[in-house]
Amino acid sequence: MSKDNKLMEKIVSLCKRRGFVFPSSEIYGGFAAVYDYGSYGVELSKNIKDAWWKAMVQEEDNIVGLDSSIFMHPKIWEASGHVSGFSDPLTECKQCHARSRVDHLLEDVGVFADEKMSEEEINVLLEENKDKIKCPKCGTKGKFSEAKNFNLLVQSNLGNFTGDWEKEATYLRGETCQGIYVNFKNVVDSTRMKVPFGIAQIGKAFRNEITARQFIFRKREFEQMEMQMFTRSEEGMDIYEKWREKRWQYYLDLGIKEKNLKWHEHENLVFYAKAAWDIEYKFPFGFSEMEGIHYRTDYDLTQHSKFSGKDLSYRDPKTNEKFIPHVVETSVGADRTFLAVITDAYTEEKLEEGNERVVLKFPKKLAPIKAAIFPLLKNKPELVEKAKEVYNSLKSEFMCEFDDNGNIGKRYRRQDEIGTPYCVTIDFDTLETGEVTVRDRDTMEQENVKIEDLRDYLVVNLK
Ligand code: GAP
Repeated sequence: MSKDNKLMEKIVSLCKRRGFVFPSSEIYGGFAAVYDYGSYGVELSKNIKDAWWKAMVQEEDNIVGLDSSIFMHPKIWEASGHVSGFSDPLTECKQCHARSRVDHLLEDVGVFADEKMSEEEINVLLEENKDKIKCPKCGTKGKFSEAKNFNLLVQSNLGNFTGDWEKEATYLRGETCQGIYVNFKNVVDSTRMKVPFGIAQIGKAFRNEITARQFIFRKREFEQMEMQMFTRSEEGMDIYEKWREKRWQYYLDLGIKEKNLKWHEHENLVFYAKAAWDIEYKFPFGFSEMEGIHYRTDYDLTQHSKFSGKDLSYRDPKTNEKFIPHVVETSVGADRTFLAVITDAYTEEKLEEGNERVVLKFPKKLAPIKAAIFPLLKNKPELVEKAKEVYNSLKSEFMCEFDDNGNIGKRYRRQDEIGTPYCVTIDFDTLETGEVTVRDRDTMEQENVKIEDLRDYLVVNLK
């Protein structure tokens, strides 16, 4: 097994063992490509989404938030092109009947298909390389059916009482940005936003992804953090470049290591796009897309004007000029950021006497638990009482954990594995001096801090 596969296995296992990520419906045998976040996972995920919201809405003067519904009028998905064009090429193994994405099978043997390739072109590539390709499930080589395109939209019967799925299909949204486009006019009419301005949204999206692999990198139910900036055509490219810079800097500010990030330019743009770059992260399986930053021109609002029959053009209040705004999009998955943050933080360290520790060196602002409070001994009521007092004084401001289980060394290891920046121990000296011992996750150094200074100590050091 390669070093990188091992790293992925270690991360998946730590996520399960320490309550970050559980496979969905596990007691029923699981449910492919769907995952649940456990008690530390939900904190990390929330901190990631809060950091994005702070950078994109709170700190930006011309971006406002939105929370549109998962269900929308089905015509929206016709206008967006998802009903006719949102598909992946699929082939079936003739031996075990497992279905796989042809582009992924080709990728595994070093052949890269283009997103824009027709079914026919993909089939030519498959035929040419078939003998090298193994079925990921049963390992049989070269026995694949012809590739067929498979639509990724997830259908539902919401509001459908006729039972005719084809005619009355509704969809769980395949991306959150369509909710932004269809609310463009509402936002213009209800806020003081003037073009250029942006609308940001965090929310669930659903795709019938064919290949369930790479853990939470590719889920069927996932969360997107998307921002659509509405601009004039003449300033669109400048605004696009500005956002490329901002989004790169955002990951550095978040604490992601720059050596694990790189740009990828799309070579073949969809017909309406002017520019498309992805920020890739070095996941355990290699560099892959984390975020897309795309210049979509006036395609989205033009399509929705056409399909809804409503004029979505914008009138400049000063010049009275009327135009359909262009869109600059930044789109990233919260789950992909989660996997990148955990991969970036995962560290194995050799300690004295041949011991090792696994520590998640999260950027402090993302750590699920900020401080763990320990009484040195569980069976000394005076220590437990003092530790509870300290814990109660901090918990309204910081996500804290009280732990009196096992020896201190074990408690440190546990907190290291969930990435807690500070462990605070209350011992007999505390009762005499009013000082606690604060242990730093990364340096493992300890220092004494007065109980009354602890809050300020955390505020300063958690920045
Ligand atoms: N509105 C544009 C859009 O949806 P996309 O490249 O299909 O573009 C944007 O998705 C981002 O959403 C990706 O960069 C990725 O971070 C995330 N994403 C897409 N599909 C995903 C999936 N199946 N599981 C987890 N995240 C996904």
